[in-house]
Amino acid sequence: MCLVQPGANLGPVLSHIDVRTGRWLTGVLASKKFADMKPGQILECWGVSGIGAERCLVVKLPDRPEPIFMRRTGARIGKKLTDLSVLVEATAGTRNLDLVVQGMTLGGYRFDRYKKEKTETGPAGKWRVMAPSPPTLNKRFDVLRPAIDGVHFTQDLVNEPANVLTTCEFARRLCQLRELGVEVEVIDEDELERLGMRALLAVGQGSDSPSRVVVMRWRGGNSPPIALIGKGVVFDTGGISIKPASGMEQMTMDMAGAATVAGVMKSLALGNAPANVVGVVGLVENMPSGSAQRPGDIVRTLKGDTVEVVNTDAEGRLVLADLMWFAQERFKPAAMVDLATLTGAIIVSLGHEYCGAFSNDDRFYQKFEAAAASEDENVWRQPLSKSFDKIIDSKFADMKNIGNRWAGAITAAQFLKRFVRPELPWIHLDIAGVAWTPKESKFAPMGATGWGVRSLSKLIVDNYSDA
Ligand code: BES
Ligand code: MN
Ligand code: ZN
Repeated sequence: MCLVQPGANLGPVLSHIDVRTGRWLTGVLASKKFADMKPGQILECWGVSGIGAERCLVVKLPDRPEPIFMRRTGARIGKKLTDLSVLVEATAGTRNLDLVVQGMTLGGYRFDRYKKEKTETGPAGKWRVMAPSPPTLNKRFDVLRPAIDGVHFTQDLVNEPANVLTTCEFARRLCQLRELGVEVEVIDEDELERLGMRALLAVGQGSDSPSRVVVMRWRGGNSPPIALIGKGVVFDTGGISIKPASGMEQMTMDMAGAATVAGVMKSLALGNAPANVVGVVGLVENMPSGSAQRPGDIVRTLKGDTVEVVNTDAEGRLVLADLMWFAQERFKPAAMVDLATLTGAIIVSLGHEYCGAFSNDDRFYQKFEAAAASEDENVWRQPLSKSFDKIIDSKFADMKNIGNRWAGAITAAQFLKRFVRPELPWIHLDIAGVAWTPKESKFAPMGATGWGVRSLSKLIVDNYSDA
Protein backbone atom coordinates (compact mmCIF):
# COMPACT_ATOMS: atom_id res chain seq x y z
CA MET A 1 0.00 0.00 0.00
CA CYS A 2 1.30 3.39 -0.90
CA LEU A 3 0.24 6.59 0.80
CA VAL A 4 0.87 9.39 -1.61
CA GLN A 5 0.90 13.09 -0.94
CA PRO A 6 0.53 14.73 -4.37
CA GLY A 7 3.65 16.59 -5.41
CA ALA A 8 5.78 15.08 -2.66
CA ASN A 9 8.97 13.20 -3.30
CA LEU A 10 8.52 9.44 -3.61
CA GLY A 11 11.25 8.74 -1.08
CA PRO A 12 13.54 5.69 -1.04
CA VAL A 13 10.97 2.94 -0.47
CA LEU A 14 8.37 4.06 -2.95
CA SER A 15 11.11 4.83 -5.49
CA HIS A 16 12.39 1.31 -5.09
CA ILE A 17 8.91 -0.09 -5.68
CA ASP A 18 8.52 2.18 -8.66
CA VAL A 19 11.70 0.86 -10.25
CA ARG A 20 10.89 -2.77 -9.49
CA THR A 21 7.46 -2.42 -11.07
CA GLY A 22 8.70 -0.75 -14.24
CA ARG A 23 7.52 2.71 -13.18
CA TRP A 24 4.02 1.52 -12.34
CA LEU A 25 3.65 4.06 -9.55
CA THR A 26 4.87 6.96 -11.68
CA GLY A 27 2.27 5.93 -14.20
CA VAL A 28 -0.50 5.91 -11.63
CA LEU A 29 0.47 9.30 -10.25
CA ALA A 30 0.56 10.85 -13.71
CA SER A 31 -2.84 9.42 -14.67
CA LYS A 32 -6.06 11.36 -15.01
CA LYS A 33 -7.66 8.79 -12.72
CA PHE A 34 -5.32 9.77 -9.89
CA ALA A 35 -5.72 13.48 -10.58
CA ASP A 36 -9.49 13.09 -10.35
CA MET A 37 -9.34 11.22 -7.06
CA LYS A 38 -10.45 13.02 -3.90
CA PRO A 39 -8.10 13.15 -0.93
CA GLY A 40 -8.59 9.99 1.10
CA GLN A 41 -9.75 7.96 -1.85
CA ILE A 42 -8.18 4.54 -2.26
CA LEU A 43 -7.22 3.13 -5.66
CA GLU A 44 -7.12 -0.65 -5.83
CA CYS A 45 -4.65 -2.06 -8.33
CA TRP A 46 -4.48 -5.73 -9.21
CA GLY A 47 -1.77 -7.53 -11.11
CA VAL A 48 1.12 -5.21 -10.36
CA SER A 49 4.20 -7.24 -11.25
CA GLY A 50 7.68 -7.16 -9.77
CA ILE A 51 6.97 -6.90 -6.04
CA GLY A 52 5.15 -10.15 -5.31
CA ALA A 53 1.98 -8.49 -4.10
CA GLU A 54 -1.43 -9.61 -5.27
CA ARG A 55 -3.03 -6.23 -4.76
CA CYS A 56 -1.65 -2.75 -4.25
CA LEU A 57 -3.57 0.13 -2.80
CA VAL A 58 -2.68 3.69 -3.62
CA VAL A 59 -4.11 6.18 -1.15
CA LYS A 60 -4.26 9.82 -2.12
CA LEU A 61 -3.55 12.19 0.73
CA PRO A 62 -4.40 15.90 0.83
CA ASP A 63 -1.59 18.44 0.62
CA ARG A 64 -1.60 18.98 4.37
CA PRO A 65 -3.21 15.96 6.03
CA GLU A 66 -4.58 16.67 9.52
CA PRO A 67 -3.97 14.07 12.24
CA ILE A 68 -7.66 13.20 12.36
CA PHE A 69 -7.68 12.62 8.62
CA MET A 70 -4.77 10.21 8.88
CA ARG A 71 -6.47 8.11 11.58
CA ARG A 72 -9.74 7.96 9.64
CA THR A 73 -7.94 7.01 6.44
CA GLY A 74 -6.12 4.25 8.29
CA ALA A 75 -9.41 2.92 9.60
CA ARG A 76 -10.92 2.80 6.13
CA ILE A 77 -7.88 0.88 4.91
CA GLY A 78 -8.08 -1.50 7.87
CA LYS A 79 -11.71 -2.31 7.12
CA LYS A 80 -10.83 -3.15 3.50
CA LEU A 81 -7.88 -5.41 4.14
CA THR A 82 -8.11 -9.15 4.29
CA ASP A 83 -4.44 -9.96 3.84
CA LEU A 84 -2.18 -10.98 6.63
CA SER A 85 0.90 -9.09 5.68
CA VAL A 86 0.71 -5.48 4.72
CA LEU A 87 3.35 -2.96 3.92
CA VAL A 88 2.53 0.66 4.43
CA GLU A 89 4.71 3.13 2.66
CA ALA A 90 4.38 6.85 2.36
CA THR A 91 5.89 9.60 0.28
CA ALA A 92 8.77 11.45 1.90
CA GLY A 93 7.82 13.87 4.64
CA THR A 94 4.38 12.38 5.33
CA ARG A 95 3.63 12.81 9.02
CA ASN A 96 1.37 11.02 11.49
CA LEU A 97 1.97 7.58 10.06
CA ASP A 98 1.45 6.30 13.61
CA LEU A 99 -2.16 7.47 13.39
CA VAL A 100 -2.61 5.69 10.06
CA VAL A 101 -1.41 2.48 11.67
CA GLN A 102 -3.65 3.12 14.68
CA GLY A 103 -6.59 3.55 12.32
CA MET A 104 -5.67 0.41 10.42
CA THR A 105 -5.44 -1.61 13.59
CA LEU A 106 -8.80 -0.33 14.79
CA GLY A 107 -10.46 -0.77 11.39
CA GLY A 108 -8.87 -4.20 11.02
CA TYR A 109 -10.68 -5.59 14.06
CA ARG A 110 -12.73 -8.71 13.33
CA PHE A 111 -14.91 -10.85 15.57
CA ASP A 112 -14.70 -14.23 13.85
CA ARG A 113 -14.13 -16.72 16.63
CA TYR A 114 -17.37 -18.53 15.80
CA LYS A 115 -16.78 -18.72 12.05
CA LYS A 116 -15.15 -21.64 10.32
CA GLU A 117 -13.66 -19.34 7.72
CA LYS A 118 -11.46 -16.81 9.42
CA THR A 119 -10.73 -13.45 7.96
CA GLU A 120 -7.04 -13.08 8.27
CA THR A 121 -6.66 -9.50 9.35
CA GLY A 122 -6.70 -8.74 12.92
CA PRO A 123 -5.52 -6.71 15.82
CA ALA A 124 -2.16 -5.13 16.37
CA GLY A 125 1.13 -6.51 15.30
CA LYS A 126 0.25 -7.85 11.89
CA TRP A 127 1.22 -4.83 9.89
CA ARG A 128 4.67 -4.23 8.53
CA VAL A 129 5.28 -0.58 8.04
CA MET A 130 8.01 0.95 5.94
CA ALA A 131 8.73 4.38 7.25
CA PRO A 132 11.56 6.87 6.86
CA SER A 133 12.39 6.34 10.53
CA PRO A 134 11.12 3.01 11.89
CA PRO A 135 12.34 3.57 15.49
CA THR A 136 10.46 6.87 15.70
CA LEU A 137 7.31 5.29 14.32
CA ASN A 138 7.61 2.33 16.68
CA LYS A 139 8.03 4.62 19.64
CA ARG A 140 5.01 6.67 18.69
CA PHE A 141 2.89 3.61 18.00
CA ASP A 142 3.83 2.10 21.36
CA VAL A 143 2.09 5.08 23.00
CA LEU A 144 -1.10 4.30 21.08
CA ARG A 145 -1.03 0.55 21.53
CA PRO A 146 -2.46 0.26 25.09
CA ALA A 147 -5.66 2.08 24.16
CA ILE A 148 -6.03 0.01 20.99
CA ASP A 149 -5.73 -3.19 23.03
CA GLY A 150 -8.29 -1.73 25.45
CA VAL A 151 -10.69 -1.06 22.57
CA HIS A 152 -10.30 -4.61 21.27
CA PHE A 153 -10.89 -6.03 24.75
CA THR A 154 -14.14 -4.05 24.98
CA GLN A 155 -15.24 -5.09 21.50
CA ASP A 156 -14.60 -8.78 22.20
CA LEU A 157 -16.71 -8.59 25.37
CA VAL A 158 -19.56 -6.70 23.71
CA ASN A 159 -19.67 -8.97 20.65
CA GLU A 160 -19.65 -12.13 22.75
CA PRO A 161 -23.14 -13.71 22.86
CA ALA A 162 -25.01 -13.92 26.17
CA ASN A 163 -24.93 -17.72 26.36
CA VAL A 164 -21.15 -17.48 26.56
CA LEU A 165 -20.69 -14.20 28.40
CA THR A 166 -22.82 -14.86 31.45
CA THR A 167 -22.41 -12.75 34.57
CA CYS A 168 -19.91 -15.24 36.02
CA GLU A 169 -17.94 -15.60 32.80
CA PHE A 170 -17.79 -11.79 32.52
CA ALA A 171 -16.43 -11.58 36.07
CA ARG A 172 -13.88 -14.27 35.26
CA ARG A 173 -12.64 -12.33 32.23
CA LEU A 174 -12.27 -9.20 34.32
CA CYS A 175 -10.16 -11.18 36.78
CA GLN A 176 -7.66 -11.69 33.95
CA LEU A 177 -6.76 -8.01 34.34
CA ARG A 178 -4.94 -9.03 37.52
CA GLU A 179 -2.08 -10.19 35.32
CA LEU A 180 -1.58 -6.56 34.33
CA GLY A 181 -1.53 -5.28 37.90
CA VAL A 182 -5.19 -4.32 38.21
CA GLU A 183 -6.70 -5.28 41.59
CA VAL A 184 -9.96 -7.07 40.91
CA GLU A 185 -12.59 -7.80 43.54
CA VAL A 186 -15.72 -9.82 42.77
CA ILE A 187 -18.69 -9.21 45.07
CA ASP A 188 -21.31 -11.98 45.18
CA GLU A 189 -25.04 -11.83 45.89
CA ASP A 190 -24.83 -12.53 49.63
CA GLU A 191 -22.44 -9.65 50.08
CA LEU A 192 -24.48 -7.35 47.82
CA GLU A 193 -27.52 -8.19 49.93
CA ARG A 194 -25.60 -7.38 53.11
CA LEU A 195 -24.43 -4.10 51.61
CA GLY A 196 -28.00 -3.20 50.65
CA MET A 197 -27.89 -3.07 46.86
CA ARG A 198 -31.52 -4.15 46.53
CA ALA A 199 -32.17 -2.16 43.34
CA LEU A 200 -29.34 -3.89 41.50
CA LEU A 201 -30.22 -7.32 42.89
CA ALA A 202 -33.88 -6.91 41.95
CA VAL A 203 -32.91 -6.57 38.28
CA GLY A 204 -31.04 -9.90 38.34
CA GLN A 205 -33.38 -11.86 40.58
CA GLY A 206 -35.29 -13.51 37.71
CA SER A 207 -32.17 -14.96 36.13
CA ASP A 208 -30.39 -18.26 36.75
CA SER A 209 -27.11 -16.38 36.45
CA PRO A 210 -26.22 -14.80 39.78
CA SER A 211 -25.59 -11.05 39.92
CA ARG A 212 -22.06 -9.78 40.49
CA VAL A 213 -20.44 -6.44 41.15
CA VAL A 214 -16.81 -6.26 40.09
CA VAL A 215 -14.43 -3.59 41.38
CA MET A 216 -11.27 -2.95 39.39
CA ARG A 217 -8.58 -0.74 40.86
CA TRP A 218 -5.61 0.71 39.05
CA ARG A 219 -3.38 2.43 41.58
CA GLY A 220 -0.91 4.30 39.44
CA GLY A 221 -1.05 7.47 41.53
CA ASN A 222 -1.78 8.86 44.96
CA SER A 223 -4.63 11.31 44.42
CA PRO A 224 -8.28 10.43 45.09
CA PRO A 225 -9.42 8.16 42.27
CA ILE A 226 -11.51 8.83 39.22
CA ALA A 227 -14.48 6.45 39.36
CA LEU A 228 -15.76 4.75 36.21
CA ILE A 229 -19.14 3.06 36.54
CA GLY A 230 -20.51 0.61 33.97
CA LYS A 231 -23.89 -0.96 33.26
CA GLY A 232 -23.31 -4.65 32.61
CA VAL A 233 -26.66 -6.19 31.74
CA VAL A 234 -25.42 -9.33 29.99
CA PHE A 235 -28.82 -9.74 28.37
CA ASP A 236 -31.85 -7.45 28.56
CA THR A 237 -35.11 -9.22 27.71
CA GLY A 238 -36.95 -6.36 29.38
CA GLY A 239 -37.98 -8.71 32.19
CA ILE A 240 -41.73 -9.03 32.85
CA SER A 241 -42.16 -5.83 30.80
CA ILE A 242 -40.76 -7.99 28.02
CA LYS A 243 -39.38 -6.52 24.80
CA PRO A 244 -40.79 -7.38 21.35
CA ALA A 245 -39.05 -10.36 19.69
CA SER A 246 -37.84 -8.41 16.70
CA GLY A 247 -34.36 -7.07 17.39
CA MET A 248 -34.18 -8.49 20.88
CA GLU A 249 -30.98 -10.36 19.96
CA GLN A 250 -29.20 -7.00 20.00
CA MET A 251 -29.64 -6.84 23.76
CA THR A 252 -26.59 -9.01 24.14
CA MET A 253 -24.68 -5.71 23.94
CA ASP A 254 -26.43 -4.24 26.99
CA MET A 255 -23.24 -4.76 28.98
CA ALA A 256 -21.24 -2.33 26.85
CA GLY A 257 -20.88 0.21 29.67
CA ALA A 258 -19.17 -2.38 31.84
CA ALA A 259 -17.06 -3.57 28.91
CA THR A 260 -15.95 -0.02 28.18
CA VAL A 261 -14.89 0.50 31.79
CA ALA A 262 -12.92 -2.75 31.54
CA GLY A 263 -11.28 -1.57 28.31
CA VAL A 264 -10.18 1.67 29.94
CA MET A 265 -8.75 -0.21 32.93
CA LYS A 266 -6.82 -2.46 30.56
CA SER A 267 -5.53 0.47 28.58
CA LEU A 268 -4.36 2.32 31.71
CA ALA A 269 -2.64 -0.77 33.07
CA LEU A 270 -0.91 -1.58 29.77
CA GLY A 271 0.25 2.01 29.51
CA ASN A 272 1.28 2.04 33.17
CA ALA A 273 -0.63 5.29 33.63
CA PRO A 274 0.40 7.34 36.69
CA ALA A 275 -3.22 7.81 37.72
CA ASN A 276 -5.61 6.43 40.30
CA VAL A 277 -8.74 4.91 38.84
CA VAL A 278 -11.46 2.65 40.15
CA GLY A 279 -13.87 0.84 37.85
CA VAL A 280 -17.12 -0.49 39.27
CA VAL A 281 -19.40 -2.61 37.09
CA GLY A 282 -22.72 -4.32 37.79
CA LEU A 283 -23.16 -7.67 36.01
CA VAL A 284 -26.77 -8.82 35.93
CA GLU A 285 -29.21 -10.48 33.57
CA ASN A 286 -32.71 -9.07 33.11
CA MET A 287 -34.94 -12.14 32.69
CA PRO A 288 -38.63 -12.90 33.23
CA SER A 289 -39.34 -15.86 35.51
CA GLY A 290 -41.25 -16.82 38.63
CA SER A 291 -38.72 -14.99 40.72
CA ALA A 292 -38.40 -11.92 38.48
CA GLN A 293 -39.31 -8.51 39.79
CA ARG A 294 -42.78 -7.26 38.83
CA PRO A 295 -44.01 -3.93 37.56
CA GLY A 296 -45.22 -2.14 40.67
CA ASP A 297 -42.55 -3.54 42.97
CA ILE A 298 -40.96 -0.99 45.25
CA VAL A 299 -37.25 -1.48 45.97
CA ARG A 300 -34.96 0.25 48.42
CA THR A 301 -31.68 1.46 46.95
CA LEU A 302 -28.32 1.42 48.71
CA LYS A 303 -28.69 5.16 49.20
CA GLY A 304 -31.94 4.54 51.07
CA ASP A 305 -34.32 6.14 48.56
CA THR A 306 -37.11 3.89 47.33
CA VAL A 307 -38.02 3.30 43.68
CA GLU A 308 -41.32 2.17 42.24
CA VAL A 309 -40.46 -0.15 39.36
CA VAL A 310 -43.19 0.78 36.91
CA ASN A 311 -41.40 -0.86 33.98
CA THR A 312 -38.91 -3.69 34.48
CA ASP A 313 -37.29 -2.79 31.16
CA ALA A 314 -35.94 0.45 32.63
CA GLU A 315 -33.44 -1.66 34.56
CA GLY A 316 -30.17 0.07 33.79
CA ARG A 317 -30.82 3.03 36.06
CA LEU A 318 -31.61 0.67 38.96
CA VAL A 319 -28.23 -1.01 38.52
CA LEU A 320 -26.37 2.29 38.14
CA ALA A 321 -28.06 3.93 41.11
CA ASP A 322 -26.61 1.36 43.50
CA LEU A 323 -23.22 1.20 41.77
CA MET A 324 -22.75 4.96 41.82
CA TRP A 325 -23.73 5.30 45.45
CA PHE A 326 -21.46 2.43 46.39
CA ALA A 327 -18.50 3.96 44.51
CA GLN A 328 -18.98 7.37 46.13
CA GLU A 329 -19.32 5.98 49.66
CA ARG A 330 -16.43 3.57 49.45
CA PHE A 331 -13.87 5.37 47.28
CA LYS A 332 -14.59 9.10 47.77
CA PRO A 333 -13.68 9.76 44.12
CA ALA A 334 -12.52 13.12 42.75
CA ALA A 335 -14.82 12.71 39.75
CA MET A 336 -17.13 10.08 38.32
CA VAL A 337 -18.15 8.96 34.85
CA ASP A 338 -20.86 6.38 34.24
CA LEU A 339 -21.37 4.58 30.96
CA ALA A 340 -24.54 2.76 30.00
CA THR A 341 -26.54 1.55 27.03
CA LEU A 342 -29.36 3.21 28.90
CA THR A 343 -32.10 4.32 26.53
CA GLY A 344 -33.47 3.78 23.05
CA ALA A 345 -34.41 7.46 23.24
CA ILE A 346 -30.79 8.57 22.86
CA ILE A 347 -30.68 6.67 19.55
CA VAL A 348 -33.79 8.52 18.44
CA SER A 349 -32.08 11.83 19.11
CA LEU A 350 -28.44 11.18 18.12
CA GLY A 351 -28.48 7.99 16.05
CA HIS A 352 -25.33 5.88 16.00
CA GLU A 353 -23.15 8.90 15.30
CA TYR A 354 -22.98 10.77 18.59
CA CYS A 355 -22.89 9.68 22.19
CA GLY A 356 -25.31 11.51 24.48
CA ALA A 357 -23.63 13.16 27.46
CA PHE A 358 -24.97 14.74 30.63
CA SER A 359 -22.95 16.54 33.28
CA ASN A 360 -23.32 18.56 36.45
CA ASP A 361 -19.91 20.22 35.98
CA ASP A 362 -18.94 22.38 32.98
CA ARG A 363 -15.18 22.24 33.58
CA PHE A 364 -15.11 18.47 33.93
CA TYR A 365 -17.28 18.10 30.86
CA GLN A 366 -15.05 20.39 28.81
CA LYS A 367 -12.04 18.26 29.66
CA PHE A 368 -13.87 15.19 28.43
CA GLU A 369 -15.08 16.96 25.32
CA ALA A 370 -11.50 17.95 24.45
CA ALA A 371 -10.25 14.39 24.96
CA ALA A 372 -13.06 13.01 22.80
CA ALA A 373 -12.39 15.58 20.07
CA SER A 374 -8.74 14.65 19.86
CA GLU A 375 -9.66 10.95 19.67
CA ASP A 376 -12.31 11.73 17.04
CA GLU A 377 -15.12 10.13 19.06
CA ASN A 378 -18.35 12.14 18.71
CA VAL A 379 -20.19 13.31 21.80
CA TRP A 380 -23.06 15.77 22.27
CA ARG A 381 -24.19 17.25 25.55
CA GLN A 382 -27.84 17.22 26.57
CA PRO A 383 -29.48 19.11 29.41
CA LEU A 384 -30.07 18.13 33.00
CA SER A 385 -32.75 20.26 34.59
CA LYS A 386 -35.02 20.29 37.61
CA SER A 387 -37.94 20.77 35.25
CA PHE A 388 -37.74 17.08 34.32
CA ASP A 389 -37.73 15.97 37.95
CA LYS A 390 -41.47 15.94 38.52
CA ILE A 391 -41.90 13.47 35.66
CA ILE A 392 -40.26 10.73 37.74
CA ASP A 393 -42.01 11.52 41.02
CA SER A 394 -43.98 8.54 42.35
CA LYS A 395 -47.15 8.44 44.43
CA PHE A 396 -45.95 5.61 46.65
CA ALA A 397 -42.15 5.73 46.58
CA ASP A 398 -39.46 8.40 46.43
CA MET A 399 -39.35 8.09 42.65
CA LYS A 400 -40.40 5.81 39.81
CA ASN A 401 -38.11 4.28 37.22
CA ILE A 402 -39.74 5.64 34.05
CA GLY A 403 -41.06 8.99 32.90
CA ASN A 404 -43.60 9.62 30.15
CA ARG A 405 -43.10 9.25 26.39
CA TRP A 406 -40.91 12.32 26.01
CA ALA A 407 -37.24 13.08 26.62
CA GLY A 408 -36.56 9.51 27.70
CA ALA A 409 -32.77 9.87 27.76
CA ILE A 410 -33.02 13.00 29.88
CA THR A 411 -35.45 11.60 32.44
CA ALA A 412 -33.13 8.59 32.77
CA ALA A 413 -30.17 10.92 33.39
CA GLN A 414 -32.26 12.96 35.83
CA PHE A 415 -33.00 9.74 37.71
CA LEU A 416 -29.27 8.98 37.96
CA LYS A 417 -28.51 12.50 39.18
CA ARG A 418 -30.45 11.72 42.35
CA PHE A 419 -27.70 9.25 43.19
CA VAL A 420 -24.80 11.65 42.69
CA ARG A 421 -23.55 13.89 45.50
CA PRO A 422 -24.09 17.44 44.25
CA GLU A 423 -20.48 18.54 44.74
CA LEU A 424 -19.01 15.62 42.78
CA PRO A 425 -18.09 16.35 39.15
CA TRP A 426 -19.98 13.76 37.16
CA ILE A 427 -20.61 12.80 33.54
CA HIS A 428 -23.24 10.34 32.39
CA LEU A 429 -22.63 8.83 28.94
CA ASP A 430 -25.62 7.16 27.30
CA ILE A 431 -23.78 4.93 24.82
CA ALA A 432 -26.82 2.97 23.54
CA GLY A 433 -26.30 4.31 20.01
CA VAL A 434 -22.52 4.36 19.74
CA ALA A 435 -21.43 1.19 21.53
CA TRP A 436 -22.80 -1.04 18.83
CA THR A 437 -23.61 -0.15 15.24
CA PRO A 438 -25.65 -2.08 12.68
CA LYS A 439 -23.36 -0.87 9.87
CA GLU A 440 -19.66 -0.18 10.02
CA SER A 441 -18.76 2.89 12.05
CA LYS A 442 -15.88 5.33 11.69
CA PHE A 443 -13.29 3.06 13.29
CA ALA A 444 -14.84 -0.39 13.42
CA PRO A 445 -16.67 -2.92 11.30
CA MET A 446 -20.33 -3.69 12.08
CA GLY A 447 -20.97 -4.61 15.73
CA ALA A 448 -19.18 -3.43 18.85
CA THR A 449 -17.20 -0.22 18.45
CA GLY A 450 -15.33 0.18 21.73
CA TRP A 451 -16.53 3.80 21.73
CA GLY A 452 -15.17 5.79 24.66
CA VAL A 453 -12.17 3.68 25.60
CA ARG A 454 -9.73 6.00 23.87
CA SER A 455 -11.45 9.22 25.00
CA LEU A 456 -11.64 8.19 28.64
CA SER A 457 -8.07 6.92 28.70
CA LYS A 458 -6.97 10.23 27.23
CA LEU A 459 -9.10 12.22 29.70
CA ILE A 460 -7.43 10.42 32.59
CA VAL A 461 -3.87 10.44 31.29
CA ASP A 462 -4.01 14.12 30.29
CA ASN A 463 -5.82 15.50 33.34
CA TYR A 464 -5.54 13.13 36.28
CA SER A 465 -1.97 11.86 36.16
CA ASP A 466 0.18 12.41 39.21
CA ALA A 467 3.49 12.46 37.42
N1 BES B 1 -30.99 -1.55 27.20
C1 BES B 1 -32.10 -0.73 26.92
C2 BES B 1 -31.76 0.48 26.06
C3 BES B 1 -31.28 0.18 24.68
C4 BES B 1 -32.13 0.24 23.60
C5 BES B 1 -29.94 -0.06 24.45
C6 BES B 1 -31.69 -0.01 22.32
C7 BES B 1 -29.48 -0.30 23.15
C8 BES B 1 -30.36 -0.28 22.10
C9 BES B 1 -32.73 -0.24 28.22
O1 BES B 1 -32.60 -1.07 29.30
C10 BES B 1 -34.20 -0.07 27.96
O2 BES B 1 -34.84 -1.06 27.76
N2 BES B 1 -34.67 1.17 27.99
C11 BES B 1 -36.03 1.44 27.76
C12 BES B 1 -36.48 2.41 28.82
C13 BES B 1 -37.97 2.61 28.86
C14 BES B 1 -38.67 1.36 29.32
C15 BES B 1 -38.24 3.76 29.79
C16 BES B 1 -36.14 2.06 26.37
O3 BES B 1 -35.28 2.84 25.99
O4 BES B 1 -37.08 1.73 25.66
MN1 MN C 1 -34.20 -2.52 29.41
ZN1 ZN D 1 -31.01 -2.38 29.30
